[in-house]
Amino acid sequence: MLSDRIKWDDKYDQMPELLEPRPPARMLAKHIRNTDDEKRALDVACGSGRHALFLAKKGYCVDAIDISEIAVETLEKRLSEEMCIHPEQADLDAFVPPKQSYDLIVMTNYLDRALIARLKPALKKNGFFFVETYMKDPANEKTQSNPDYLLEDEELKRIFAEGFDIIEYDTFWNESYERYKMRKQAILVRKV
Ligand SMILES: C[S@@+](CC[C@H](N)C(=O)[O-])C[C@H]1O[C@@H](n2cnc3c(N)ncnc32)[C@H](O)[C@@H]1O
Repeated sequence: MLSDRIKWDDKYDQMPELLEPRPPARMLAKHIRNTDDEKRALDVACGSGRHALFLAKKGYCVDAIDISEIAVETLEKRLSEEMCIHPEQADLDAFVPPKQSYDLIVMTNYLDRALIARLKPALKKNGFFFVETYMKDPANEKTQSNPDYLLEDEELKRIFAEGFDIIEYDTFWNESYERYKMRKQAILVRKV
């Protein structure tokens, strides 16, 4: 949606600290090993490339998609020649990737349930899907969040209940460098 692009470009313009390099999600970093066999990954709503850069350093060839021009330009500036990353400014609302094309799909700090359903066929057999994002909790500091963008209790387990093995699932309070204290949910699954 055009309004998403305007909203996020404004946000990044006013709070450039949101584009600063940050460590990868703990669960992803724990499980992802170096690879040298041209594995393909997709980082949706990649922002300035927190996970795209991490995965490229691990040897993945990464398609990194975000609607924000500022975020994509920031990622482009961080690329080095030896990294295989294809940044693309695109609206994920209309995104349908080819079937069985990725070994790993990553969605963090972003929730689009319909997109997850469209991405499942894009994973190869034995491919991994990692999702980590905010969930509903009475103790969340950011109370004005749109509830559509917050997970229900155990929702990620239900989303991947069929056709996937759960490798790890967790709920936790978010990292100290984020602006508000928020409850999060994360899951790493493998397609059977
Ligand atoms: C909170 S940031 C998450 C960035 C990154 N995944 C991370 O974990 O650090 C959410 C991102 O979603 C992107 N976004 C929002 N709506 C989008 C859409 N319709 N299509 C593509 N990207 C979108 C924003 O531009 C923003 O960079």
